[in-house]
Amino acid sequence: MPLSVAVSGASGYAGGEILRLLAAHPDVEIRTVTAHSNAGQPLVDHQPHLRSLRHLTLQPSTPEVLAGHDIVFLALPHGQSGQYTDALAETSLVIDAGADHRLTSSADWDAFYGGEFHEPWTYGVPELLIGDGAKQRGKLVGASRIAAPGCNASTVALSLAPGVAAGVIDASDIVSVLAVGPSGAGKSLKTNLLAAEILGSANPYAIGGTHRHIPEIRQALRGAGAAGDIRISFTPVLVPMSRGILATSTAPIADGVTDAQIREAWESAYADETFVQLLPEGSFPRTADVTGASTALMGLAIDRAAGRVVVVTAVDNLAKGTAGAAIQSMNIALGLAETTGLTVNGVAP
Ligand SMILES: NC(=O)c1ccc[n+]([C@@H]2O[C@H](COP(=O)([O-])OP(=O)(O)OC[C@H]3O[C@@H](n4cnc5c(N)ncnc54)[C@H](OP(=O)(O)O)[C@@H]3O)[C@@H](O)[C@H]2O)c1
Repeated sequence: MPLSVAVSGASGYAGGEILRLLAAHPDVEIRTVTAHSNAGQPLVDHQPHLRSLRHLTLQPSTPEVLAGHDIVFLALPHGQSGQYTDALAETSLVIDAGADHRLTSSADWDAFYGGEFHEPWTYGVPELLIGDGAKQRGKLVGASRIAAPGCNASTVALSLAPGVAAGVIDASDIVSVLAVGPSGAGKSLKTNLLAAEILGSANPYAIGGTHRHIPEIRQALRGAGAAGDIRISFTPVLVPMSRGILATSTAPIADGVTDAQIREAWESAYADETFVQLLPEGSFPRTADVTGASTALMGLAIDRAAGRVVVVTAVDNLAKGTAGAAIQSMNIALGLAETTGLTVNGVAP
């Protein structure tokens, strides 16, 4: 008997991608989809690509509508998930795509988000190193409350965690510059996301330590075993592609470390992973290679002249960055095969 699922925020980008992937998942039945201002309308009016779900109507996102399912996905603006906590107390698995349950530090929450702080849930990045060679996957087994990651945050954390865990890079001087597609900012109308502002242009934003994913990256790298201060200069740049992240992250090479030791850190971290793949030496990923895929594709360079390791990682912000991570985590929590319903193959060109 399939598990019943409700997806809240189903008219949005993250909710739409969760639905697209769940529609191909053999163990679940999408029973309920909910929205806010668009409640009452057919789902396909807002997600016309979801043809197999054309029978569904968006219901209001009330606690009563969401209760009574085996699994509930929340894909709402941050600060909106907490209102469902009590109503979903009996729900065996709740997965939040928003930021509300990601951070363990209330001080970080206050500094970067503000509003009520909610308890942290199990972080939904299975491949993330968490010290002593262990991975986050172990914590997801049997989890009942999962916080899916921020797309930029998980991309950078996966990029650098192997180097931090092995002690081959210095985490006190990380620089990450990301080319990002505008779907990462959601579907609501904003002037800076209009086609006229974006097409033919590359537009930086949240510059100078203000981006909300910074504390999440620091938290993840601390968990991976970073010794001492973690300092990161983080600059996202909006580019004209609807989805995708190409993150270039660099950090100083630790003293006395050989090139072989550096490469070995990444190779051993991800050799057995399906959805995080390190490319051969000299190869680097493109965003199109992971469009629609649950894959984080990574290239590693050692720049001895600059004394820095360079990691370039491509991720689909809506797939591996959100919905793919959420469903992979769901599979682990429920004891299903981890890759069920997910693909490693992108859509290129
Ligand atoms: N986009 C990404 O790449 C990405 C990646 C990782 C995580 N996330 C996270 O996923 C969440 C959703 O992001 P998104 O990009 O999908 O945003 P979005 O496209 O703007 O969609 C927001 C959804 O939330 C609903 N909503 C708005 N206000 C609400 C309220 N007060 N109460 C209940 N529902 C409300 C909207 O319904 P109506 O349309 O009916 O108003 C819509 O379904 C965010 O927390 C975001 O940080 C997004």
